Amino acid sequence: MSNADIWEKIIEGYKEVKSDNYLGIFGYPIKHTLSPIIHDMISDEFSLGERYIPFEIDENLGEYVKSAYENGIKGLNITVPFKERVIPYLCEVDDDAKKIGAVNTLVRTDKGYKGYNTDMEGLYRSIKETGTEIKDKEVIMLGAGGAARAVAFMCKKYGAKKIYIINRSIDKAAALSDDMNDKETLKKFIPVSVDEYNTVSNGKYIIIQCTSVGLKSEDGLPLIHDINFYRQAEFAVDLIYNPAKTCFIKCMEELGIPVINGLKMLLYQGIIANELWNNIEVDATLTEKIYSNLIKKLYR
Ligand code: ATR
Repeated sequence: MSNADIWEKIIEGYKEVKSDNYLGIFGYPIKHTLSPIIHDMISDEFSLGERYIPFEIDENLGEYVKSAYENGIKGLNITVPFKERVIPYLCEVDDDAKKIGAVNTLVRTDKGYKGYNTDMEGLYRSIKETGTEIKDKEVIMLGAGGAARAVAFMCKKYGAKKIYIINRSIDKAAALSDDMNDKETLKKFIPVSVDEYNTVSNGKYIIIQCTSVGLKSEDGLPLIHDINFYRQAEFAVDLIYNPAKTCFIKCMEELGIPVINGLKMLLYQGIIANELWNNIEVDATLTEKIYSNLIKKLYR
C-alpha cells in the first residue's frame, strides 16, 4: 500500500471534516479522546483553519508517521501504546522527552517530525497554577509505570528534594529510581515496596497518584489502605480524570487536603503541544473556556 493509500485509509470516516491543515492523534484505542475539543477551539479562536483528527492506528506506526509527514500533516499527538515506540521514526527528540523516554507530541520540521513530551510540562503547569511549588518539596509517587516516568522526571527537573516511589512491583520502582538518580540528584529517588510503606518518614508530602487504580468504579484506594498514611499529604494529584473523583480523590477531600485530578494536565499538555505547532500563546481566558467545555463533555 502506498503512503497516499495509507493516509486515504486513515482519514476514512473523517471525510466530512474538511481542512487543508490537519492535526491529529495516533493511538489505540482512541475513540473517546477529548483532544479535538482543545485543538479545534484553539484553531477557531486564532482563525487557523485547522482540524484535529483522532486516528486509531495499528502496529504499522512507522508507516503512519511517514505517511502523515508526506501528506503535509502539521503536527500530531501520540498516545498509548505508542509514546515510546514512536521515537525511532523521528528526526530529532527534545532533550527532556529523551530523558523521559516517551514522546506525546510531533512537530513538523524540514527533516521530519521532532518529538516532545508535553505531558510533563502539562502536569507541572496544572500543579503550579494552584500555587503549589515542587522545588525543595518531598514527594510520594504511587506507581512506576509509563505515566509515572514523566512525573518522576518533572520532580527531578523542578527540584523536588526527595521522591519516594511506591509500587506494587518493587522492581519497577527500583528501575525508575535508578534511571532518575544520577550524580546531581544522588539518591533523591527512593523505591519503596508496598508492605514497607511505613519506612517513609513522617512528614508533609505532595502525593501524586500515577497508578491505574481508580479507573474502574469498584476500585478502592491505590496500594496503601491506611487512611493515616494519606494525612501526610499537603497537596495531592490523581492523574486519572475519568471518573472525576476516584477513591483517592474522595479520601483526600475527606481529609481536607487540596487535591486535583488529571484533567488540567490533559488540558495543558494539549495547549503546550498546540503552542509548539502554531507558535502562539494561549491566554488564561481561552484556557478557561476550553476547560469548561472539557468538563461539560466529560462530566455532565
Ligand atoms: P500507564 O501508562 O497508565 O502508567 P502502566 O505503564 O501499565 O500504565 O502502569 C500502570 C501502573 O499502575 C503501574 O505502576 C502498575 O503497577 P505494577 O508496576 O506493579 O504493574 C499500577 N497498577 C495497575 N493495576 C494495579 C493494581 N491493581 N494494584 C496496584 N497497582 C496497579
